[in-house]
Amino acid sequence: MSALKKYELPPLPYKNDALEPHISAQIMELHHDFHHKGYVTGANAAVEKIEKVVKGEVSGYDWAGIVRNLVFNLNGHRLHNVFWNNMGPAGSKGGGKPGGKLADLINLQFGSFDKFKQIYSELMKSLTGSGWTILYYDEESGKLTFTTVENHFINHIVDLPVVLLLDEWEHAYYLQYKSNRNAYLDAWWNVVNWDDAEKRLQRHLR
Ligand SMILES: [Fe+2]
Repeated sequence: MSALKKYELPPLPYKNDALEPHISAQIMELHHDFHHKGYVTGANAAVEKIEKVVKGEVSGYDWAGIVRNLVFNLNGHRLHNVFWNNMGPAGSKGGGKPGGKLADLINLQFGSFDKFKQIYSELMKSLTGSGWTILYYDEESGKLTFTTVENHFINHIVDLPVVLLLDEWEHAYYLQYKSNRNAYLDAWWNVVNWDDAEKRLQRHLR
Protein backbone atom coordinates (compact mmCIF):
# COMPACT_ATOMS: atom_id res chain seq x y z
CA MET A 1 0.00 0.00 0.00
CA SER A 2 1.33 3.45 -0.87
CA ALA A 3 1.85 6.02 1.88
CA LEU A 4 -0.99 8.38 2.72
CA LYS A 5 -0.41 11.87 1.38
CA LYS A 6 -1.03 15.26 2.91
CA TYR A 7 -2.80 18.13 1.18
CA GLU A 8 -0.34 20.58 -0.32
CA LEU A 9 -0.53 24.22 -1.36
CA PRO A 10 -0.01 24.37 -5.13
CA PRO A 11 1.92 27.35 -6.52
CA LEU A 12 -0.04 30.05 -8.33
CA PRO A 13 -0.05 29.38 -12.09
CA TYR A 14 1.25 32.96 -12.65
CA LYS A 15 3.11 35.70 -10.77
CA ASN A 16 1.45 37.63 -7.97
CA ASP A 17 1.14 40.75 -10.14
CA ALA A 18 -0.15 38.93 -13.25
CA LEU A 19 -3.77 39.96 -12.70
CA GLU A 20 -3.08 43.65 -12.13
CA PRO A 21 -4.64 46.17 -12.35
CA HIS A 22 -7.80 44.14 -11.76
CA ILE A 23 -6.52 42.17 -8.76
CA SER A 24 -3.46 43.57 -7.02
CA ALA A 25 -0.24 41.64 -6.31
CA GLN A 26 -0.70 42.30 -2.60
CA ILE A 27 -4.11 40.66 -2.61
CA MET A 28 -2.86 37.67 -4.59
CA GLU A 29 0.10 37.17 -2.29
CA LEU A 30 -1.95 37.27 0.91
CA HIS A 31 -4.84 35.35 -0.59
CA HIS A 32 -2.64 32.48 -1.74
CA ASP A 33 0.20 32.46 0.80
CA PHE A 34 -1.93 33.09 3.89
CA HIS A 35 -5.60 32.27 3.29
CA HIS A 36 -5.29 29.31 0.91
CA LYS A 37 -2.37 27.98 2.94
CA GLY A 38 -4.55 28.19 6.05
CA TYR A 39 -7.16 25.95 4.45
CA VAL A 40 -4.48 23.41 3.50
CA THR A 41 -3.12 23.42 7.06
CA GLY A 42 -6.64 23.17 8.45
CA ALA A 43 -7.60 20.28 6.17
CA ASN A 44 -4.50 18.34 7.18
CA ALA A 45 -5.18 19.04 10.86
CA ALA A 46 -8.79 17.87 10.50
CA VAL A 47 -7.71 14.63 8.83
CA GLU A 48 -5.09 14.10 11.51
CA LYS A 49 -7.72 14.59 14.21
CA ILE A 50 -9.98 12.01 12.56
CA GLU A 51 -7.10 9.54 12.35
CA LYS A 52 -6.42 10.02 16.07
CA VAL A 53 -10.09 9.42 16.86
CA VAL A 54 -10.02 6.26 14.77
CA LYS A 55 -6.94 5.06 16.65
CA GLY A 56 -8.56 5.82 20.01
CA GLU A 57 -5.98 8.47 20.84
CA VAL A 58 -8.47 11.21 21.81
CA SER A 59 -11.46 11.23 24.09
CA GLY A 60 -14.34 13.64 24.40
CA TYR A 61 -14.36 14.47 20.70
CA ASP A 62 -17.18 16.24 18.87
CA TRP A 63 -17.95 14.66 15.53
CA ALA A 64 -20.16 17.55 14.37
CA GLY A 65 -17.34 20.01 14.94
CA ILE A 66 -14.70 17.73 13.44
CA VAL A 67 -16.51 17.15 10.16
CA ARG A 68 -17.59 20.78 9.87
CA ASN A 69 -13.96 21.78 10.27
CA LEU A 70 -12.90 19.23 7.67
CA VAL A 71 -15.45 20.40 5.09
CA PHE A 72 -14.73 24.09 5.70
CA ASN A 73 -11.00 23.67 5.16
CA LEU A 74 -11.02 21.00 2.47
CA ASN A 75 -13.62 22.82 0.39
CA GLY A 76 -11.68 26.04 0.96
CA HIS A 77 -8.58 24.32 -0.44
CA ARG A 78 -10.32 22.74 -3.42
CA LEU A 79 -12.31 25.84 -4.37
CA HIS A 80 -9.14 27.95 -4.42
CA ASN A 81 -7.36 25.34 -6.58
CA VAL A 82 -9.99 25.94 -9.26
CA PHE A 83 -10.19 29.69 -8.69
CA TRP A 84 -6.49 30.35 -9.44
CA ASN A 85 -6.63 28.42 -12.70
CA ASN A 86 -9.93 30.00 -13.69
CA MET A 87 -8.08 33.31 -14.04
CA GLY A 88 -5.26 34.64 -16.20
CA PRO A 89 -3.62 37.93 -17.18
CA ALA A 90 -6.00 40.31 -18.91
CA GLY A 91 -5.42 40.52 -22.66
CA SER A 92 -3.62 37.18 -22.94
CA LYS A 93 -5.21 34.33 -21.01
CA GLY A 94 -7.83 36.42 -19.25
CA GLY A 95 -10.90 38.32 -20.36
CA GLY A 96 -12.75 38.44 -23.64
CA LYS A 97 -15.45 35.91 -24.36
CA PRO A 98 -15.69 32.12 -24.20
CA GLY A 99 -15.38 30.03 -27.33
CA GLY A 100 -15.94 26.39 -28.16
CA LYS A 101 -18.66 24.31 -26.54
CA LEU A 102 -19.03 26.72 -23.62
CA ALA A 103 -19.97 29.52 -26.02
CA ASP A 104 -22.40 27.15 -27.76
CA LEU A 105 -24.12 26.28 -24.47
CA ILE A 106 -24.25 29.91 -23.35
CA ASN A 107 -25.79 30.96 -26.65
CA LEU A 108 -28.28 28.09 -26.52
CA GLN A 109 -29.38 28.76 -22.96
CA PHE A 110 -29.08 32.55 -22.73
CA GLY A 111 -29.28 33.76 -26.31
CA SER A 112 -25.98 35.63 -26.16
CA PHE A 113 -22.86 36.08 -24.04
CA ASP A 114 -23.96 39.58 -23.08
CA LYS A 115 -27.24 38.23 -21.68
CA PHE A 116 -25.36 35.52 -19.76
CA LYS A 117 -22.98 38.13 -18.36
CA GLN A 118 -25.88 40.31 -17.23
CA ILE A 119 -27.70 37.43 -15.51
CA TYR A 120 -24.53 36.00 -13.97
CA SER A 121 -23.46 39.44 -12.71
CA GLU A 122 -26.82 39.85 -10.99
CA LEU A 123 -26.31 36.48 -9.33
CA MET A 124 -22.77 37.37 -8.23
CA LYS A 125 -23.96 40.63 -6.72
CA SER A 126 -26.87 38.96 -4.91
CA LEU A 127 -24.62 36.98 -2.55
CA THR A 128 -24.80 38.15 1.05
CA GLY A 129 -21.79 37.56 3.26
CA SER A 130 -18.79 35.41 2.39
CA GLY A 131 -19.01 32.87 -0.39
CA TRP A 132 -18.66 31.97 -4.03
CA THR A 133 -20.54 32.11 -7.31
CA ILE A 134 -20.19 28.85 -9.21
CA LEU A 135 -21.03 27.83 -12.77
CA TYR A 136 -21.50 24.07 -13.14
CA TYR A 137 -22.19 21.70 -15.99
CA ASP A 138 -24.97 19.20 -15.33
CA GLU A 139 -24.31 16.07 -17.37
CA GLU A 140 -27.81 14.73 -16.64
CA SER A 141 -29.61 17.68 -18.23
CA GLY A 142 -26.82 18.67 -20.61
CA LYS A 143 -27.08 22.26 -19.34
CA LEU A 144 -25.05 24.82 -17.49
CA THR A 145 -26.40 25.70 -14.08
CA PHE A 146 -25.22 28.00 -11.34
CA THR A 147 -25.55 28.97 -7.72
CA THR A 148 -24.08 31.17 -5.04
CA VAL A 149 -22.39 29.21 -2.26
CA GLU A 150 -22.33 30.66 1.24
CA ASN A 151 -19.17 30.10 3.24
CA HIS A 152 -17.37 27.22 1.46
CA PHE A 153 -20.22 24.72 1.42
CA ILE A 154 -23.78 26.00 1.98
CA ASN A 155 -25.89 25.78 -1.19
CA HIS A 156 -23.25 23.77 -3.05
CA ILE A 157 -24.71 21.35 -5.63
CA VAL A 158 -23.36 17.86 -5.04
CA ASP A 159 -21.31 16.09 -7.69
CA LEU A 160 -21.71 18.61 -10.51
CA PRO A 161 -18.43 19.51 -12.19
CA VAL A 162 -17.34 23.12 -11.72
CA VAL A 163 -16.72 25.07 -14.93
CA LEU A 164 -16.03 28.50 -13.46
CA LEU A 165 -16.05 29.97 -9.99
CA LEU A 166 -15.49 33.27 -8.25
CA ASP A 167 -14.28 33.95 -4.72
CA GLU A 168 -16.38 36.67 -3.11
CA TRP A 169 -14.86 36.54 0.38
CA GLU A 170 -13.63 39.90 1.63
CA HIS A 171 -10.03 38.65 1.56
CA ALA A 172 -10.37 38.42 -2.24
CA TYR A 173 -10.89 42.15 -2.78
CA TYR A 174 -10.97 44.32 0.34
CA LEU A 175 -7.38 45.58 0.28
CA GLN A 176 -7.98 47.04 -3.17
CA TYR A 177 -11.70 47.69 -3.50
CA LYS A 178 -12.62 48.29 0.18
CA SER A 179 -16.40 48.08 0.57
CA ASN A 180 -17.08 48.38 -3.17
CA ARG A 181 -17.44 44.67 -3.84
CA ASN A 182 -19.37 45.31 -7.05
CA ALA A 183 -16.30 47.02 -8.57
CA TYR A 184 -14.28 43.86 -7.90
CA LEU A 185 -17.02 41.70 -9.40
CA ASP A 186 -17.11 43.89 -12.54
CA ALA A 187 -13.30 43.83 -12.83
CA TRP A 188 -13.15 40.03 -12.47
CA TRP A 189 -14.55 39.55 -15.98
CA ASN A 190 -11.26 40.98 -17.31
CA VAL A 191 -9.25 38.09 -15.86
CA VAL A 192 -11.57 35.15 -16.52
CA ASN A 193 -9.61 32.37 -18.22
CA TRP A 194 -12.25 31.06 -20.62
CA ASP A 195 -9.88 28.42 -22.02
CA ASP A 196 -9.61 26.87 -18.56
CA ALA A 197 -13.40 26.94 -18.18
CA GLU A 198 -13.75 25.28 -21.59
CA LYS A 199 -11.28 22.55 -20.60
CA ARG A 200 -13.25 21.81 -17.44
CA LEU A 201 -16.45 21.60 -19.44
CA GLN A 202 -14.92 19.37 -22.15
CA ARG A 203 -13.97 16.71 -19.58
CA HIS A 204 -17.67 16.06 -18.97
CA LEU A 205 -19.28 16.38 -22.38
CA ARG A 206 -20.54 13.15 -23.90
FE1 LIG B 1 -10.41 33.04 -0.95
